Amino acid sequence: MILRMGSSAFLPGGGISLYSGVGRLFSQKLRGEPLPLFETTQILGSPLHAVYSLRCSEWNGKTGCENNIHQLSERNMIPADVEKALAAQINQEFSAAYNYLAMSAWFDREGLDGFAHWMQMQHQEENMHAMKLFRYLLDRGGKVELDGIGKPRMEFSGVKEVFETALEQERGNTESINRLYALAGNQSDFATKSHLQWFLDEQVEEEKSIEDVIALLERAGSDPSALLYLNDKMGGRTDQGEANQ
Ligand SMILES: [Fe+2]
Ligand SMILES: [Fe+2]
Repeated sequence: MILRMGSSAFLPGGGISLYSGVGRLFSQKLRGEPLPLFETTQILGSPLHAVYSLRCSEWNGKTGCENNIHQLSERNMIPADVEKALAAQINQEFSAAYNYLAMSAWFDREGLDGFAHWMQMQHQEENMHAMKLFRYLLDRGGKVELDGIGKPRMEFSGVKEVFETALEQERGNTESINRLYALAGNQSDFATKSHLQWFLDEQVEEEKSIEDVIALLERAGSDPSALLYLNDKMGGRTDQGEANQ
């Protein structure tokens, strides 16, 4: 459960008990009187970690207090190093997206619109990966620390070299996901492990699809008509729906 409340949310005394461990502490505070005008407490040893302030301007034993819950979430349940690694992975996925966009531009300039289209689909898919992790990290109450994205490589010596570069990138990304998965396991962060399972499966597909293209390019060799045939084939890629998940 992730619960974020704006400043000065009003909770009647009875309602406070809704919030389990936090509610118990609120109730304890409310039993004594007079309560301090402003108090900040960090609850430790509870499944929920909350940092809140409680202000009771008037307290007669029945009315509630104005409170200001800065954070009431499972945020602290995500290990700090997993949080950091997930944020870095978001950056890596956006970087991959940017690299694919550069490859798409290169193909477009070469007059190979089918390959350009295929790379644009890759670009969208990597953006989707980044956003999937972005959403997950926020849903866990984690901090998304966005970093800069480096300038992508814009020039290539030929079609095959573009795909070899793409394969290298995907293999690097697989290693990164593997490390992240192992880290989540070491930290007993089972939710992150579960979320990353999808990415592990995705990487198998990603590497295979690029290896398949490289194999076809090797078969085509220097035959221009074979390359144009492949260009048409690549232009037929229609998994944009998946990329927009
Ligand atoms: Fe990816
Ligand atoms: Fe990928």
